[in-house]
Amino acid sequence: MARHLITSAIPYINGIKHLGNLVGSQLPADLYARYLRARGHEVLFLCATDEHGTPAELAAAKAGKPVAEYCAEMHAVQAEIAKGFRLSFDHFGRSSSEQNRVLTQHFAGVLADNDLIREVVETQIYSKADGRFLPDRYIEGTCPNCGFESARGDQCDNCTKQLDPTDLIEPYSTISGSKDLEERQTKHLYLRQSEMREQLEAWIDSKSDWPILTTSIAKKWLTDGDGLQDRGITRDLDWGVPVKRGREDWPGMEGKVFYVWFDAPIEYIASAQEWVDAGEGRDWERWWRTDKGAEDVVYTQFMGKDNVPFHTLSFPATILGSKEPWKLVDYIKSFNYLNYEGGQFSTSRGRGVFQDQALEILPADYWRWWLLSNVPETSDSEFTWENFQAGVNKDLADVLGNFVSRVTKFCRSKFGEEVPDGTYGPQEAALIEDLTTRLHAYEAHLEAMEVRKSAQELRAIWVAGNEYLQEAAPWSTFKEDPARAAGQIRLALNLIRFYAVISQPFIPDAAAQLMAAMHTDDDSWPEDVAAALEALPSGHAFTVPDVSFRKIGDDERAEWQERFAGTRA
Ligand code: 2FM
Ligand code: ZN
Repeated sequence: MARHLITSAIPYINGIKHLGNLVGSQLPADLYARYLRARGHEVLFLCATDEHGTPAELAAAKAGKPVAEYCAEMHAVQAEIAKGFRLSFDHFGRSSSEQNRVLTQHFAGVLADNDLIREVVETQIYSKADGRFLPDRYIEGTCPNCGFESARGDQCDNCTKQLDPTDLIEPYSTISGSKDLEERQTKHLYLRQSEMREQLEAWIDSKSDWPILTTSIAKKWLTDGDGLQDRGITRDLDWGVPVKRGREDWPGMEGKVFYVWFDAPIEYIASAQEWVDAGEGRDWERWWRTDKGAEDVVYTQFMGKDNVPFHTLSFPATILGSKEPWKLVDYIKSFNYLNYEGGQFSTSRGRGVFQDQALEILPADYWRWWLLSNVPETSDSEFTWENFQAGVNKDLADVLGNFVSRVTKFCRSKFGEEVPDGTYGPQEAALIEDLTTRLHAYEAHLEAMEVRKSAQELRAIWVAGNEYLQEAAPWSTFKEDPARAAGQIRLALNLIRFYAVISQPFIPDAAAQLMAAMHTDDDSWPEDVAAALEALPSGHAFTVPDVSFRKIGDDERAEWQERFAGTRA
């Protein structure tokens, strides 16, 4: 059995995320973690909230709260939603933790000791009214190219020209509206990534099994333009990890913080420390330090494609540049975008279905199943209410739910609420053979993190049970040969437990409900399908479960479609 470290990209703290955020990293990571645990592997599955940066500060200001208080509240909200979707994190940390502060400052210190940090004096826009330097996108003004009045400091949305804030005519702060801006000099730290270009390229070239989506993005950044650029890792902000060189002050960097993208991935490590410090686990170093046992850990990261450059280049540059024995990622699984009804999901514009709203209208399993079976794996995919309704109704209600209901109700009416006594014949043997082939395919897809293919195979396994039932037709058999019908139903009841066990990574609540209905807690993975379909012996009691999946009606679908058509305030 291997040890698997799994991390999901850590969501920004500023607000409740939409379904696109869920499907693009946390949900597939959870599927993988659940599957590996079910196969007996030791898993440490970590996530956190990404709490620093200007967006967090501005969201707090908008909510009229001190930023630390806002982050604490939003962390609790996001943690609750994660629980609602049954995301099985071993720890859901916070990038604003003390552990992350110490680690981030430590990394900056060793990078500086290794001569991988340089100091740069640059000119930036300072707003006297706001008492702060303004990041490019918080400066607007008139575009010198097209005259558009709300061009941003980095780009004009009207004519798409790339801009510098100093290009804007009559620039103003989008925070306060103040035009009292001036250019001031400020010192920043740059990570000398360009020094590590060859090392990073060789490392990425050694990952021939990575998804093309991951390597193509990494390669583009390595070779585009002038190649890998040095990267500013500090900002003139109040909220963040204060710039220090290890434990020492950094002369000239007083009042500055590390850039959010510098400390966020370090939180993957800090989250493991938080897990231990919270008394939830022990020995985090055995997961993260290759000199302390982590050399045999397999580390997999999950993320949306926009996060790939930071995980293939920037964070590895931090880890490699430290020259310390930290665990490097082994596999990066990245995803495309999920669109919403012909456009984009957008947190800032409040477009689409948000995670809290989704859980208000339907249980987690409906969302988990649809999102995972439609995950934007090889290209972007699209959520429409029609597709969602069709997928849920067909797969969960018509196929899986219907099977369970027919089998258990028929058994209750003819044999009572216990597994009847009957033997298996050639028809059952053929089904077992088919299921064995399919199960192996399902396992192979899950091991390869081929999410869509694993969903397709699981669906095919459910369908195989329905087809068997349709052909065996115990309701007809019963009239001439009740003993034969008893064998068929014994198999079908065992199949319900089998389904619960193998479907658990996708639909954990329904799986638990089916296990409870079958009065069993034997959730051992079916290494041998024939043996697994003997797990419930004759005479074993069960209960007819309540409807496991209800159908989504046309009226409610239309109502949701309308309710979520606009934008959320
Ligand atoms: O894109 C995002 O939501 C970022 N907050 C992801 C950060 S992942 C990591 F590096 F911490
Ligand atoms: Zn313009």
